[in-house]
Amino acid sequence: MSNTLLEIKNLTVSVEKAGRLTAIVKGVDIKVPQGKIVGLVGESGCGKSMTAKTINGILPTAAKITDGAVLWHGNPNTETDLARLSEQKLRKLCGSQIGMVFQEPMTSLNPMMRIGSQVSEALLIHKLVQNKKEARAKTIRLLDEVGIPEPELRYRSFPHELSGGMRQRVMIAMAVICEPKLLIADEPTTALDVTIEAQILKLIKKMCDAYSMSAIVITHNMGVVAQICDYVYVMYMGRIMERTTVKRLFERPLHPYTRGLLASIPRIGKNPEYLQTIPGNIPEIGKEIVGCEFCLRCSDDERACFFEKPMEREIEEGHFVRCHTA
Ligand SMILES: Nc1ncnc2c1ncn2[C@@H]1O[C@H](COP(=O)(O)OP(=O)(O)OP(=O)(O)O)[C@@H](O)[C@H]1O
Ligand SMILES: [Mg+2]
Repeated sequence: MSNTLLEIKNLTVSVEKAGRLTAIVKGVDIKVPQGKIVGLVGESGCGKSMTAKTINGILPTAAKITDGAVLWHGNPNTETDLARLSEQKLRKLCGSQIGMVFQEPMTSLNPMMRIGSQVSEALLIHKLVQNKKEARAKTIRLLDEVGIPEPELRYRSFPHELSGGMRQRVMIAMAVICEPKLLIADEPTTALDVTIEAQILKLIKKMCDAYSMSAIVITHNMGVVAQICDYVYVMYMGRIMERTTVKRLFERPLHPYTRGLLASIPRIGKNPEYLQTIPGNIPEIGKEIVGCEFCLRCSDDERACFFEKPMEREIEEGHFVRCHTA
């Protein structure tokens, strides 16, 4: 499709456990259209980060891609499979065209290096500016744009001199300084309080609009998805269980797991005692499940759910679900 920037196709990632390969990402398909924000949601351990890490080739050594493709359409009239690119070529492409924001900025920022040097470094590495003076000017403009007060002063600050929210703004500036085509934000607001969280989410949306950037926002928070995403992919035990537009998902959630996630969003005026949770826990990774991965926790289960893996079905245009009962 011409307006697709990134297409993950039938992606399988496996880790070696007790001498055998266990799939932790199972046949995942994700399309990221140009200029759109895609949310990837699901409980802890379901494979969100592993899926994202295949895009820019930063999987841990224990994990490897065992099937599928990661097709990049960022350059005109070409299709590049990032999963098969040499490390050197992948670094070059990702460094300038794919930006990444992680959950905890302090672990990604170098504590010994001034903010300004860290943000401007990529501009110099990728030769996107003529000299250091130009890199400095561009960095200060961007620090201002991401909402850092007194950006000229902050340019010379060290990470520990900034608050958590400000550090996350610096991370966003670092991720977008080369004006990438895709931003991957892996739980960018988990370590922040709710007011700062809302500001950071608005900032991600603003930067995407300002730079016509696409984004993949990884979260286990459906509220985050509702606020900024265009499309949503619901993941459970390494599989995409439901995918559609955000509007459709909230209007008509089809998968019992999606409904469980939506029911667990706290709402003002609702008695906290009625706050719902999804019963049970995610089974241990590598556990052999013959039927649907969710059947052990599902309230709608039928006999088939225990014996047969549900295939993905398109229930209405652009609304896909992997469930026998939906
Ligand atoms: N370095 C590793 N080696 C082996 N297995 C790993 C490694 N890192 C993660 N895993 C396993 O891969 C699975 C998917 O992990 P992943 O980090 O993608 O989950 P996640 O959905 O991002 O969860 P969270 O919301 O907690 O970040 C998990 O079951 C985890 O135990
Ligand atoms: Mg993760």
